[in-house]
Amino acid sequence: MPRLVRHDHTGPIKIEPQDKPIFICGCGLTQNFPFCDGTHKQCASEDPKTVYVYDDTRTKVIEERPDSE
Ligand code: FES
Repeated sequence: MPRLVRHDHTGPIKIEPQDKPIFICGCGLTQNFPFCDGTHKQCASEDPKTVYVYDDTRTKVIEERPDSE
């Protein structure tokens, strides 16, 4: 079932349960879920008042809508 998941983060979530930090994807665009793979860099130019809908591969914006929330 397809779904649109809202992500407001534009970068990773850092957790430190071990000797070195682990970065969990907060943007929803990683190809290595749940871990950040650096893809969040493409969020840097996103307008915070716009909802970006990505294709199934999470690599291409297929729709932009004004954010109503
Ligand atoms: S936070 Fe999503 S790829 Fe880095």
